[in-house]
Amino acid sequence: MFSCFHHFSFLVFLLFIVLSSDGASSSFSKIGQGYSLVSIEDAPNGGLVGLLQVKKKTNTYGPDIPNLQLFVKHETQDRLRVHITDAEKQRWEIPYDLLPREQPPTLKKSIGKSRKVLYGESEISGNKLIFSYISDPFSFVVKRKSDGQILFNSSSDESDPYSSLVFKDQYIEISTKLPQDASLYGLGENTQSHGIKLQPNDPYTLYTTDVAALNPNVDLYGSQPVYMDLRNVGGEAFVHAVLLLNSNGMDVIYRGNSLTYKIIGGVLDFYFFAGSTPLAVVDQYTQFVGRPAPMPYWAIGFHQCKWGYKNLSVTEAVVDNYKKALIPLDVIWNDDDHMEGNKDFTLDPVNFPRPKMLAFLNKIHSQGMKYIVLTDPGIGVNSSYGVYQRGMENDVFIKLDGEPFLGQVWPGPVYFPDFLNPKTVAWWKDEVARFHELVPVDGLWIDMNEVSNFCSGKCTIPKDRPCPGKFGWICCLDCKNITNTKWDEPPYKINASGKHVPLGFQTIATSAVHYNGVLEYDAHSIYGFSHTIATHKALLAINGKRPFILSRSTFVGSGKYAAHWTGDNKATWDDLRYSISTILNFGIFGMPMVGSDICGFYPTPTEELCNRWIELGAFYPFSRNHANQASPNQELFVWDSVAKSARNALGMRYKILPYLYTLNYEAHTSGAPIARPIFFSFPTFTQSYGLSTQFLLGSSLMVSPVLKQGTSKVKALFPPGTWYSLFDMTQTIISKEGHYLTLDAPLHVINVHVYQNTILPMQQGGLVSKDSRTTPFSLVVTFPAGASEGVAKGNLFLDDDELPEMKLGNGQSTYIEFYATVSDKTVKVWSEVQEGKFATEKGWLIEKVTVLGLDGIGEALAVEVDETPVSDVSNIEMDATEHMFLEKLEGGNYKKS
Ligand code: GLC
Repeated sequence: MFSCFHHFSFLVFLLFIVLSSDGASSSFSKIGQGYSLVSIEDAPNGGLVGLLQVKKKTNTYGPDIPNLQLFVKHETQDRLRVHITDAEKQRWEIPYDLLPREQPPTLKKSIGKSRKVLYGESEISGNKLIFSYISDPFSFVVKRKSDGQILFNSSSDESDPYSSLVFKDQYIEISTKLPQDASLYGLGENTQSHGIKLQPNDPYTLYTTDVAALNPNVDLYGSQPVYMDLRNVGGEAFVHAVLLLNSNGMDVIYRGNSLTYKIIGGVLDFYFFAGSTPLAVVDQYTQFVGRPAPMPYWAIGFHQCKWGYKNLSVTEAVVDNYKKALIPLDVIWNDDDHMEGNKDFTLDPVNFPRPKMLAFLNKIHSQGMKYIVLTDPGIGVNSSYGVYQRGMENDVFIKLDGEPFLGQVWPGPVYFPDFLNPKTVAWWKDEVARFHELVPVDGLWIDMNEVSNFCSGKCTIPKDRPCPGKFGWICCLDCKNITNTKWDEPPYKINASGKHVPLGFQTIATSAVHYNGVLEYDAHSIYGFSHTIATHKALLAINGKRPFILSRSTFVGSGKYAAHWTGDNKATWDDLRYSISTILNFGIFGMPMVGSDICGFYPTPTEELCNRWIELGAFYPFSRNHANQASPNQELFVWDSVAKSARNALGMRYKILPYLYTLNYEAHTSGAPIARPIFFSFPTFTQSYGLSTQFLLGSSLMVSPVLKQGTSKVKALFPPGTWYSLFDMTQTIISKEGHYLTLDAPLHVINVHVYQNTILPMQQGGLVSKDSRTTPFSLVVTFPAGASEGVAKGNLFLDDDELPEMKLGNGQSTYIEFYATVSDKTVKVWSEVQEGKFATEKGWLIEKVTVLGLDGIGEALAVEVDETPVSDVSNIEMDATEHMFLEKLEGGNYKKS
């Protein structure tokens, strides 16, 4: 029976025209002549290190670096690293303290004493991957051992529109051939108007930029240079991933049968993840870049925000109105409205008086609700502002020509903290702690960290006019373009902002300098990442509670610290649809706690759109309604119809919070995305490969939202198997070979289906997660319809969500695996519990088990729960001493039999 916590462990077509800055629309024009591998030897700590020499010098985009060091290592069973850099000079790399990994062998010293001089080919075999190379001209191939597939092939033939390897100071190029039928995903951040599957000839430019998310197919807030490659070979699916760990701006040209990286600096630091299932890939990937952050339980509740809650009363009224409308709400947010003069870490004494603020926070905290505010990196230049004063005293800002670099954001003139400087991190920690004393916030929203600047170039504060002027977002500083440095005017211009704008456009000048002389040119795209890490340290230091951070700019590894939202979207049906692809991509990037501004950031959404958006948004991993200052209110209670849809959809979210929280645990322990493309569970189901209008939560809940105006139907693809409607479990869909079905979807209805073979843990729901969390559990067990035999599984993670870590073994958590079988006309249900003490002490109960899919069983049916035959299926009481009850076992087909 369920009570035995202790015994059962509960508890391409080819497009050769590549636009580049010099207008080099170069059909077959190759930039370089490649390199030869002239020596190779064992590296001191494993792997091999070799010397590459340029074959013939060329001058396009600058001279070639003559000697390169190659370092190859099978780092784990399923991870291969290929690192190529200048053999004579240190180049910019992602700091090893920000993203821990092995330092390649020291330059120069390790090469030259060659073990053998190479002419020909050779192979280094790892456990799952094989690295092989051709020495002249140098190219390499990565193969998967088990199936012999070539995952990466950097060779270039006469007919290829790219060179084999180009390595210049400000231009690096390398390519891989790809099978035409490979499906690629990733390479962000980018609003992919064509869905999750990368499209040949769509631009993929990576450079962190504050271009609103409503602009499809341009470089956005984050840089995520990783792709997943899914191939179906003879009916079998194989997946692997390729990460290029490089923060410099880059264009990635995908042609369908090849992919070329054109990077303007840094090194080539490739990591190949062998897979070969989608989940294995994200597991291997996040093992390297960092496991997704554990989220506090309340963070998976619903969040309301708006820019323009101009005072505390307005903010309080929003909370009250949610209560009155009986719509769940866990977290209320303030944008910069709470600040005095838009300055970070301040409180407006008039509109947000502290005593009233504290009383408000006491009240909502006592109800289990939480409060989050916005901070931006730009620190107002204002000699009477403490944060600025202390920043100046500690010399924490990024500099240009020896002076703090001047930009403009919401407060007017600002300086930008350099989070690569340990002194800045210490100062930031202190400022966050001081602010927390002032206002005990429960998390921080870190915005504008690409970094966004309303001005470009070298600026000064005007003496003759107010700054900021009437329109705070228009540059009010006196600025000059910087055109005299190779950083501000690099030879190759990436397709920045989709328009080849200069790299310093509305951000920090690329010739500005960070700690230790690091150039903004190199470190630009890790600004948000370093800001996130500093903020994480700061929050953790305050009270040791599990931090919650929402960051707009992200890089490889950001998921370890923060959640993300897709930025400034538009209240349009297109943007509603785009949100799904970006969210699914971030799951692949190891940042699964992600959502979009529900109902759209601006302009005003229509009532119908907001209905549909909350229905979809209720199933985003991170579910937050947010709008622009200029938009009218769009909280879910504003329209009766939206309120009704919200009660329905969020009502269900609050019932499945235990499932979502368990998915966060899975993400944290294995990298499994919370929201996943359908192919994650059905990798051989080729119809699902580009599917971007539906998604899975975990492995078995499928969300099929309405994404079009004026319809009450939705066409949804059902992979093979039985699917049960989550909202109406009597509705069963049996998809034999996988097909599209048109489902009813009246205005207040979102279709969500549970797949066969699942045990879904649910609770009763509520208006705040703190309350819903204490309600009794129920389990929904799904067997394939019509089958006489079946197996179902589910799991549940429970813990004290204030603990910084999310793990077993601390006495504050329980992990349960549920199992059910049906065979020989007998249904058996049992659980295996790890560390049941915590759940027992909390007194959690299971009050109901609903078994679906028993229509193939026939009349006689026996039920066993934890090996004990159960006769009275309508009222079975479990062992009270263990605080686990099974009061009712009923529902669906089961009752009928
Ligand atoms: C940025 C953010 C947006 C926020 C606004 C004001 O545009 O993306 O969410 O409301 O700044 O702080």
